[in-house]
Amino acid sequence: MFDPQATYQLLRNLTSPVVAITSERGGKRNGMIIDSAVRASIVPDVPRLAIFIHKFNFSHDLIFDTGRFVLHLLRRDQFDLIHTLGFASGRDRDKLAGIPHHLGALGAPVLDECFAHFECRVINAMDTGSSTCFLGDVVAVGAGAQEQPAVEVMTAAYFRANLPAAWRAAYEHHLSSAQAVARAHSRNIRALTWRDIPR
Ligand SMILES: Cc1cc2nc3c(=O)[nH]c(=O)nc-3n(C[C@H](O)[C@H](O)[C@H](O)COP(=O)(O)O)c2cc1C
Repeated sequence: MFDPQATYQLLRNLTSPVVAITSERGGKRNGMIIDSAVRASIVPDVPRLAIFIHKFNFSHDLIFDTGRFVLHLLRRDQFDLIHTLGFASGRDRDKLAGIPHHLGALGAPVLDECFAHFECRVINAMDTGSSTCFLGDVVAVGAGAQEQPAVEVMTAAYFRANLPAAWRAAYEHHLSSAQAVARAHSRNIRALTWRDIPR
């Protein structure tokens, strides 16, 4: 018999870097944090990535409706940005108000001070019940702080080990609330045909 908690901790070894995802719909700009992004192509001239976004997050609807998003690799000193984007919803506030950014080639916000960013057009999507996995074609890239010496990328391990103590309880609470909602919807998978699969 398997122990769910032990299994979950083992699965956490598969976690990607902690990244910021931005989106835009009808003039409303938003950003969130995820640790579920993966490289989704081994072909250098076909750059792709995939992200898992829970349906209850505001960003989900913006990405689903517009078919575009920007993924930002973060620097290790960007805990404030993670706190601003990952601990509250854009339904309740304008999270990008104090964050330097501009609109990129696809019309979604590009955060100015990150490690690097990838502007993506959604080319397919899969329903998981509680979330949608969006497959993105990378259509524009910015190197950002990655070109400066001694700047390192924010990994999941670094995030967990160095999250400021004052934010840990809020993070754990946010995670367990999300897990409860996700559990209720996980087995309700629907068939999904993405509207814009390039041919
Ligand atoms: C370290 C970290 C990792 C997260 N990973 C994910 C994730 O993989 N998928 C997801 O949907 N939400 C994830 N979240 C939660 C969202 O960032 C959070 O719910 C956010 O408030 C959503 O904002 P929105 O409603 O404005 O879209 C993560 C949050 C943190 C702090």
